[in-house]
Amino acid sequence: MSLSAEEIKDANIAYHDAAADEYDAKWGIDYGDLGRTQVAIKTRKVLGKRPKFERGLEIGSGTGYFSLNMMQNGYIDEVVCTDISQGMLDVVERSADRLGYGDRVSTLHSAAENFPYEDESFDLIFGHAVLHHLPDLQASFDEFYRLLRPGGMVFFAGEPSETGDRLANYPKRAGHRLSPIWRRALGVHQASVREAEAVAAGERSQEYLDGHAVEHLVDVHAFRPGSLARFAKQSGFDDVNVVGEELSANWFGWFNRALEADGVPGDIPNIWRQYAYRGYLGFQWFDRTALEGRLPAGIFYNLMIGARKP
Ligand SMILES: C[S@@+](CC[C@H](N)C(=O)[O-])C[C@H]1O[C@@H](n2cnc3c(N)ncnc32)[C@H](O)[C@@H]1O
Repeated sequence: MSLSAEEIKDANIAYHDAAADEYDAKWGIDYGDLGRTQVAIKTRKVLGKRPKFERGLEIGSGTGYFSLNMMQNGYIDEVVCTDISQGMLDVVERSADRLGYGDRVSTLHSAAENFPYEDESFDLIFGHAVLHHLPDLQASFDEFYRLLRPGGMVFFAGEPSETGDRLANYPKRAGHRLSPIWRRALGVHQASVREAEAVAAGERSQEYLDGHAVEHLVDVHAFRPGSLARFAKQSGFDDVNVVGEELSANWFGWFNRALEADGVPGDIPNIWRQYAYRGYLGFQWFDRTALEGRLPAGIFYNLMIGARKP
């Protein structure tokens, strides 16, 4: 099915508004040591060890995972979190206040191709897991170029690679097949049955139901390293660098996620969560030390891009 740019944006608004309140819990978003370290590891691969920027603009900030951890790490002094979903931005505001950054974090409800700022207003434009949702990526990169000061950087992480995405289907399929056995073994109830009961009892709003019904429409790209680099180059960026990260960690992660996908989250035993979490970190370490930099970027699950405005 081919959708217009407006239909893609509408699906993103509906799904992300409906998902906003449960988003942090669903994706394990953390503002303690774990979240800070995860963001530091990703940032280092593209921007170097201790980057420092005055004014940042985050695209598709969601609930603020990247901006708030970048700020906690001291990488940016001030940031504007932008998103097409107001529901997500409401969560950013609450989390920024809770962490004590209310005066240095602002939000703007906006799609990624047009911002109400003057030329050369920022020295870093960044995002995590967002480019693959944008219907007109070239227009977005042109806008990032306009908004950056000379010498400013773009940095995007967590973008699915075409090959990595294809390879991840194997652990996903295996996990889904084995999930009934896994649920029985761990005494975990089936979430879809509970959800059907909640819907029948009228406990879900129409907005929530409509939003989750369009989840399959929100992802519009998976990239090859060259295709991602081309957008930045065509907008005029220099020093374009695309790197890949996470291979075994993603297979391990997707397998476990598929096992857990239809389980009631509150039923999942803590010992399993510890195993899944520690195992994931272990595989991430293995990918980082043994595979990344040695294998071609395109076979990893996630791509990251950095580039500089001349
Ligand atoms: C997968 S979420 C990632 C959120 C956050 N960056 C994170 O890593 O947790 C993608 C985010 O991009 C936003 N988004 C989708 N399409 C967009 C668009 N056209 N312009 C701006 N934001 C968009 C969504 O609303 C959502 O919050």
